[in-house]
Amino acid sequence: MKSQATNLAVSAGALTFSVGSVLAATSGEFNVLSMNVAGLPEFLNGNEVPGDKTTNSELIGTKFSQYGYDIINVQEDFNYHAYIYETDTHAYRTATSGGVPFGSGLNTLANFDWIDFERVKWNTCSDASENDCLTPKGYTFLRAAIDDGVYVDVYNLHTDAGTEDDDITARASNLQQVADAIDARSVGNAVLVYGDTNSRYTRTGDGIRVFSAQNAMTDPWVELIHDGTIPTVESLCENPSTTNTCETVDKVFYRGSPVLDLTATYWSYASTNFLQANGSILTDHNPVTVNFTWAAGSSLRQSGFWGGPHGTWFNDAPTLATKTAPKASTLTFRGANRLDSVGLTLSDGTTFTHGGTGGDVSTLTLGSGEYWASAQLCQGQKDSQTRNFYIKATTSTGRTLSAGTATSDCATFAAPSGWGVVGFLGQAGDEMDQLAFVFAPQ
Ligand SMILES: *[C@@H]1O[C@H](CO)[C@@H](O)[C@H](O)[C@H]1NC(C)=O
Ligand SMILES: *[C@@H]1O[C@H](CO)[C@@H](O)[C@H](O)[C@H]1NC(C)=O
Repeated sequence: MKSQATNLAVSAGALTFSVGSVLAATSGEFNVLSMNVAGLPEFLNGNEVPGDKTTNSELIGTKFSQYGYDIINVQEDFNYHAYIYETDTHAYRTATSGGVPFGSGLNTLANFDWIDFERVKWNTCSDASENDCLTPKGYTFLRAAIDDGVYVDVYNLHTDAGTEDDDITARASNLQQVADAIDARSVGNAVLVYGDTNSRYTRTGDGIRVFSAQNAMTDPWVELIHDGTIPTVESLCENPSTTNTCETVDKVFYRGSPVLDLTATYWSYASTNFLQANGSILTDHNPVTVNFTWAAGSSLRQSGFWGGPHGTWFNDAPTLATKTAPKASTLTFRGANRLDSVGLTLSDGTTFTHGGTGGDVSTLTLGSGEYWASAQLCQGQKDSQTRNFYIKATTSTGRTLSAGTATSDCATFAAPSGWGVVGFLGQAGDEMDQLAFVFAPQ
């Protein structure tokens, strides 16, 4: 990971902090690794990997640290999980969901923190040719915090294996389930999907094209290794692979967003990084690594989030991206004991409103040249879930508008200098569960 500037996070009292904009990085790079770590119990699957699984798993963890990949998605991380984590030193790692038959085998190890981690089980599985229903396979979701106001939604997945008709049907259903999840919870967001798709472009019925067709995502293997054209002739890989042109089922897909440009700069099998001392493989899959550069949007950016991941996802960025130089003219909040809704009307008449209809309305009409410069949010617990209780907007002329009831757990989100709040993203139901702000130059 490399950033062009450092984050500013100033401690200002025990439970309040400010997220500054002055020094926020506006570009950087990171890399990812996708690796099926062959951690099924020995009696189920020897995986054609020589050597002792415990020793091999310890070596995999050592190499994760040695190469320092920024976000690693592993699959089949079942019964030897503890040995990988014993030697790996990544700062942020998911807790295992267990070995066979309890866990999904999916874990993430990262140099970045994240929010909103969730494990989701497949709706469909098939035991037609392999034991896919033996253990609750599925996908995971997390929102990686790459930098201040820079997030990427990361999906890890391990689809149904095998090539019987029922396997292929289950696998297409699995991929469709992830594509639909992206449409529901990642609208307007940069997204990475990577893991063991068990899919080949050359196998009819695998449904792997759903991510480009439905979610506007790109496979950097196709983009960088095959000049943007999906190969039509099957080309299987050796392990370790000596070429990048052959196709593996372990795949990476990505897209940027209106607030974040994402570009894949490098794609490669990382097979030679994961060998035993005598040259034997550590897993029966060729691991895949991809490098990305990111740049904060030049016309739209976002703040950090406050509150909890409950309610339905919304994001005004896609609508704002269709406008030239959007400006807010009126702010409208609703709140009482907690924050019920947030809204604003743009100078072109477009109105964004999110949340419920309870609470008292408060409104502020901005003067010409006045813009919404920063917002304080306070969160608290309601029915054992975190949500926003309070908002206070401060304009470029120092006027304020607030709603709800302040708590002792607050954060202030300031637009970059000369930028203002023009929209929202987050999750809401009857009230404002989770909230972040979309900024544009004013
Ligand atoms: C890929 O990214 C890593 C981590 O940022 C970096 O060390 C490495 O040099 C990059 N490789 C290429 C080929 O850009
Ligand atoms: C490498 O070592 C492992 C573990 O001792 C062994 O099973 C494997 O056969 C060896 N590979 C070679 C190429 O000698």
